[in-house]
Amino acid sequence: MALLDVKDLGVSFTTNDGTVNAVNGVNLTLDRGETLGIVGESGSGKSQLAFAIMGLLAQNGTARGSVKFDGREILNAPAAVLNPIRANHIAMVFQDPMTSLNPYMRVSEQMAEVLVHHKGMSKSDALAESLRMLDAVKIPDAKGRIRLYPHEFSGGMRQRVMIAMSLLCRPDILIADEPTTALDVTVQAQIMQLLVELQREFGMATILITHDLGVIAGFCERVMVLYGGRVMEAAPVHPLFADPTHPYTRGLLRAIPRVDHEGGELDSIPGSPPNMTRAQQGCPFAPRCDYAGDDCVQALAPLTEFAPGRWRACNRSLEELA
Ligand SMILES: Nc1ncnc2c1ncn2[C@@H]1O[C@H](COP(=O)(O)OP(=O)(O)O)[C@@H](O)[C@H]1O
Ligand SMILES: [Mg+2]
Repeated sequence: MALLDVKDLGVSFTTNDGTVNAVNGVNLTLDRGETLGIVGESGSGKSQLAFAIMGLLAQNGTARGSVKFDGREILNAPAAVLNPIRANHIAMVFQDPMTSLNPYMRVSEQMAEVLVHHKGMSKSDALAESLRMLDAVKIPDAKGRIRLYPHEFSGGMRQRVMIAMSLLCRPDILIADEPTTALDVTVQAQIMQLLVELQREFGMATILITHDLGVIAGFCERVMVLYGGRVMEAAPVHPLFADPTHPYTRGLLRAIPRVDHEGGELDSIPGSPPNMTRAQQGCPFAPRCDYAGDDCVQALAPLTEFAPGRWRACNRSLEELA
């Protein structure tokens, strides 16, 4: 049994302009200790997919389908079921750590509180454990800094604090949603390196959400490519990079900044992401796809496993894309 088993997950929002279908029929499984990357441009439904799993959708959102954690249905489950799971089993790290840190509380207080509340530790044990976790995320002089307030840390250090907080209860699953997007490039690399090390050390299953395929390569075993709230392609990381089979994945790969890139423009994908309020029958990528025909506007090909562990949703055959 998979640790996390998501089936036919859909998320929609009611707005004044109509219904926004942010996530459409997504399936995914995650085993213990596994690393999965979810990649797609801004607006492709990555965060809402994660929020639906965590039961954190905005008021105007509804989720349908199934999310099972360790065999137990948690989608749209009551708080009495969700709260202990969010506290002890599935943790999330966001792009902006200030969304989860309390600006008015010392880091020591907010970290210790988590352990006192969820693990029933004494205050002094909780503080000692919090300090160990700040050391684990490599905050220099953690002992001196644990009594600071969040704003007294730099952006990168604050993200380390956030990661330390998320790991305090030793979650089985960590969902990191664009954890480095707000940071400058050097700090981004340091945080990704830290996540790689922590994942090895703690062995938690991890979902890394990013718009940048580049950061997936060093971290994930499997990748899922999302566009218009749908899975376009899913594969183990090596075949996906070596031999992408969806025109959208190929576009994302061409858009990765390269160290050896000689100035010049990155090859970004022309056109803009789809309007999610329109009813989608065809492939959401069709309007931007060089290979699209009338059939693609009419209907989206089902996601099909064409080789072991490799899935694609595209009307064009691999020969036609060659
Ligand atoms: N509360 C909301 N009401 C209406 N639309 C929303 C809401 N939250 C997100 N959306 C829409 O859902 C789509 C997917 O958003 P999101 O999952 O946040 O994208 P990303 O892939 O960048 O994380 C976007 O079109 C976004 O505008
Ligand atoms: Mg997002």
